[in-house]
Amino acid sequence: MKVIAISGDSRNLEDLRKLATGLELVGELYCHQGELSGMAMLPVRDEMDVLILDCRHGGITPIADLERLLGFYPRLNAILVVDQESPDLLLRALRAGVREVIKAPVSRDDLQVAFHRIHQKTRGAQRGDGRVLAFMSCKGGSGASFLATNLGYVLAQRSEKNVLLIDMNLQFGDAVLYLSDRRPAATLPDVTRDIQRIDLSLLKSAQIEVLPNYSILASADDPTQSMDIRPTHVEALLRFARAHYDYVLLDVGRSLDTCTIQALDMADQIYPVLQLTLPFLRDAKRLFDVYRSLDYGPDKVRPLLNRVERSPGDLKPEDAENHLFYKVFASVPNHYKSVTASVNQGVPIQSLDAGSPVSRSLQELADRIAERSAAQSRGLLSRLFSRG
Ligand SMILES: Nc1ncnc2c1ncn2[C@@H]1O[C@H](COP(=O)(O)OP(=O)(O)OP(=O)(O)O)[C@@H](O)[C@H]1O
Ligand SMILES: [Mg+2]
Repeated sequence: MKVIAISGDSRNLEDLRKLATGLELVGELYCHQGELSGMAMLPVRDEMDVLILDCRHGGITPIADLERLLGFYPRLNAILVVDQESPDLLLRALRAGVREVIKAPVSRDDLQVAFHRIHQKTRGAQRGDGRVLAFMSCKGGSGASFLATNLGYVLAQRSEKNVLLIDMNLQFGDAVLYLSDRRPAATLPDVTRDIQRIDLSLLKSAQIEVLPNYSILASADDPTQSMDIRPTHVEALLRFARAHYDYVLLDVGRSLDTCTIQALDMADQIYPVLQLTLPFLRDAKRLFDVYRSLDYGPDKVRPLLNRVERSPGDLKPEDAENHLFYKVFASVPNHYKSVTASVNQGVPIQSLDAGSPVSRSLQELADRIAERSAAQSRGLLSRLFSRG
């Protein structure tokens, strides 16, 4: 397990380092001197399994800060080291999701028992985090927003999982218009402005609900409002969203800025959307070269061909693959009538015309995505079991 120990006191931290080094189940150990208050993210990039938080020597126990931090890290297990363990403290710690409370003086045995218990509890546990799927247009008008928003609807309907779509097209976000005529009460910058305070009710109050299990977080109408959004905000928001939703779909538009790259980095899969014409292939090539330079492999990048028509002389999916060096994941047919009706009315194509060729193709795509997620989580579970 990867472990981080945090203490405001350098001697306490050194003590924890000595106690935890070489214990069974402890793999990498990071030590950080500092306070938890105001910390929205751990001071390490790697995913941690265990946080040992030192609150000895009169240090106050920052339960509220810890609870907020655990909201961002669904797989993190916390061990609290305290001077006094009152029933009130234990109850508050338990409510905050703390796994273990150890009373000082701490022995290696105490810590070892705590690690074994955490290991036992997490062995069969499900991954609490959802999948992040980013949709990107290779060129304006390729259909990324239409496909992302409508796929979210079909995925929510068919998989019965909780789906959230975040419109991360900070300049020209229009995702909500594809599914609803309601105006959002709040938008993405309202949520990121105070990201440290985020909780589920705040996030929900900013969303437009399309289905009981499908909501959209819209981007601001006025692009200047999004100017203060930073990659760290994106990181915190996605961390939180994936802890509370099964699927987090992102419409990232087509600009490659630091916020977009942060989102793409965190995405489990990227679905770049393009059409089978030369101007699209040309722009797609540039984008795919960037993907390669960012080390996004074929498992992560899943190109979607949109508005495909099979006429003699047209380019074929193989032409795109030869040009782009990534395998096409799926093709969606062109169907002007049903798509235009859906877009003009702001109603999901699935509820307007479930039999349209585009709806059928989205149904297939949603099932493939849901199947893969199920297979992937089974793989993880079996890996967890085989460790023991
Ligand atoms: N499969 C399809 N068949 C017919 N028309 C389609 C199809 N997919 C998308 N369209 C049309 O293309 C238009 C543009 O799509 P969309 O806004 O999703 O593109 P985009 O990639 O998000 O563009 P931008 O980069 O500007 O955000 C839609 O309004 C819709 O009318
Ligand atoms: Mg768009």
